[in-house]
Amino acid sequence: MSHVLDFIDDSFIDIIKAEGCRITDSQGKTYIDFESGCWATSLGHAHPVINQVLHTQLDQVMHVGTRYPNHTTEEAAQAVLNLLDMPDGKCIFLSSGSEAVEFAVQCAKKITTQPMLLCLSQTYLAAFGTSKERSPQEWITFDWQSCEQCSHNNCQDCPAVAEIPFDQIGAFIFEPGSFSAQVKFPPAELIQTLTVRVRENGGYLVANEITTGIGRTGKWFGFQHYGVQPDIVAMGKGLGNGYPVSAVAMTCAAATKLCQTNMSHAQSHQNDPIGAAVAKTVITTIREEKVLQQCQENGQFFLNQLKQIQHSFPIIVDVRGKGLFIALEFIDSQIASDIHSQLVQRGFLTGYKPGQTTLRFFPPLNIKTEQIQALLNALQACLQKISQPEDTGTAIPKKG
Ligand SMILES: Cc1ncc(COP(=O)(O)O)c(C=O)c1O
Repeated sequence: MSHVLDFIDDSFIDIIKAEGCRITDSQGKTYIDFESGCWATSLGHAHPVINQVLHTQLDQVMHVGTRYPNHTTEEAAQAVLNLLDMPDGKCIFLSSGSEAVEFAVQCAKKITTQPMLLCLSQTYLAAFGTSKERSPQEWITFDWQSCEQCSHNNCQDCPAVAEIPFDQIGAFIFEPGSFSAQVKFPPAELIQTLTVRVRENGGYLVANEITTGIGRTGKWFGFQHYGVQPDIVAMGKGLGNGYPVSAVAMTCAAATKLCQTNMSHAQSHQNDPIGAAVAKTVITTIREEKVLQQCQENGQFFLNQLKQIQHSFPIIVDVRGKGLFIALEFIDSQIASDIHSQLVQRGFLTGYKPGQTTLRFFPPLNIKTEQIQALLNALQACLQKISQPEDTGTAIPKKG
């Protein structure tokens, strides 16, 4: 019996080593990681440059307390703000995605006079706090499920949008993808319409980039697919490549307004130099190693191949994704579960939540094309075993 409280009833793999996309368990079995841990190790496990900065910063100073701003944290804040085109803004470093989203929401509440917050249905914001609870007294949830089938093509005249009390809304908290790990993308026109209406009424746009940020979708941030520019951005996961650092950045206007309020915030590990050093180095490494380009190219290859496989296997009802943020949807959860288990046996760790119909792929952004090809081959073998394909003769073409 394990004494670790982890709320997981999944099979147990005792991982003892991880390098790049390769994971080894205590039995010596190896796996290719298509989950990046909890979608965090975007540069791969034990990336030498990230390990080096961790060692160096540990030897210099890892923690100083909130009263002593440090030049490493300053440089990291500038790196994050430059990515967001908010050069005069402000940035705070925290430890987890949940803290970052909750902090971003608290800031938005401080700088607005309107009492309500808006989000989309199925959105996931945090593991605790007001962002998890989302009490109906404070939050309006816009049900966008029907938008996927909508033929209107004009969100401005949508009767459901017209029902939103925009004059009450202080901020729209937007998650540009994921939706409780379903890898779903709301229509850009809906997001633009909601943003314009919220802003017309003096509200703010807050982007939850915990999952989609720092390159996961092939752009630095998920909101960049939507033609909107947020006032406040929360990021985490990939920012630390597995080290627990998150950040909240905001425009100069939002920061100035916040400083005029009575808001104060102090957490033990806020703005720790070690997390900031990692965040800054993750950003420079993604840039120097042209990781966004790799993510776009390999993501497109992966998605195209999955779509081709879908033609032969009607048990796959949908293939969707952006960059290396990809999901396969099956006709039922039992099939999804079986495919997931078979892939584990064959040495591939993919994302699956019991009871759901989707299998998710969030590999390190610098995964090699051959490793994707190996997964595709294994997936096709699993699908053949589990179903009667219409056309078993489909060979998966190699890239290039
Ligand atoms: C979209 C989104 N927001 C927030 C969070 C919370 O981040 P964390 O688990 O680091 O607290 C997650 C975690 O999976 C997430 O997917």
